[in-house]
Amino acid sequence: MSRDIVYLNGSFLPVHEATVSVMDRGFLFGDGVYEVIPVYGGRAFRLEHHLQRLDLSLQGVRIANPLDHVQWSDILIALIRHNGGGDQSIYLQVTRGVAPTRDHAFPADVQPTVFAMSTPLTEPAAAVRAGVAAVTIDDIRWKHCNIKAITLLPNVLMRQQALDAGAAEAILLRDGLATEGAASNLFIVSGGTVLTPPKSNLLLPGITRDLVVELCQAHGIPCCEADISADELRSADEVWISSSTREVVPITRLDDAPVGDGKPGPLWQQVSALYSAYKQDFRAGKVQ
Ligand SMILES: Cc1ncc(COP(=O)(O)O)c(C=O)c1O
Repeated sequence: MSRDIVYLNGSFLPVHEATVSVMDRGFLFGDGVYEVIPVYGGRAFRLEHHLQRLDLSLQGVRIANPLDHVQWSDILIALIRHNGGGDQSIYLQVTRGVAPTRDHAFPADVQPTVFAMSTPLTEPAAAVRAGVAAVTIDDIRWKHCNIKAITLLPNVLMRQQALDAGAAEAILLRDGLATEGAASNLFIVSGGTVLTPPKSNLLLPGITRDLVVELCQAHGIPCCEADISADELRSADEVWISSSTREVVPITRLDDAPVGDGKPGPLWQQVSALYSAYKQDFRAGKVQ
């Protein structure tokens, strides 16, 4: 079974045969949106949540969704099967399409370009679960960070700045508040309560973030949405980041200082175990 079959505008084909015009608005303007969906045991995790966020991203950039949820689901099921089932990470992207000329104005009568591919997904490495370093960086992005736009140059630059500093992630500060990571959401633990910044136009409404909040609520772990100042971040007992492919990762060093005692904290251990159990239930078909 091939593992490099992609979906492009109605066809499944090997990745090296999939090509897009240089006049595509995604290529020329970064004019499009995307999703990343983990697949466990051949099933797309939290698919409906991802498709709903895709709808909101598309509305946010005024592209009509060319497919309904059933069509999306059928395409993704076929893509997962073409790529051998099991665990995968699905990337899908919709751009405004191929325009006759390069003009900022929306072109009339274009068909969005629809692309999806699969990459292998592995369990988070033991080294990551033992804790990673992060650095704080001033958020240089626009004011529509709730839209999952393919225009990711600021995120790329900030992530690279973190990597260059020997850290795994950048935690972004805007007007004195910590919002999220360069490609993740942010949690802190303070006085036994799990805190995460409220949803706004300044951060992506992460699917993993929502699941972590749901799991805390379901298991009696105190959890609330609250602004997190840079000082609160630095004095937190625990700091975590979350994303679909990295799950929930403990940050044990921040800007070269230990977070708490410098080890993954007890609430991270608890939430991480709940997250793994939820994934197991999903694989077993016990949750949708
Ligand atoms: C900027 C940003 N915030 C948060 C997230 C986490 O979102 P999710 O949990 O839906 O993967 C991502 C994921 O890539 C991201 O790019």
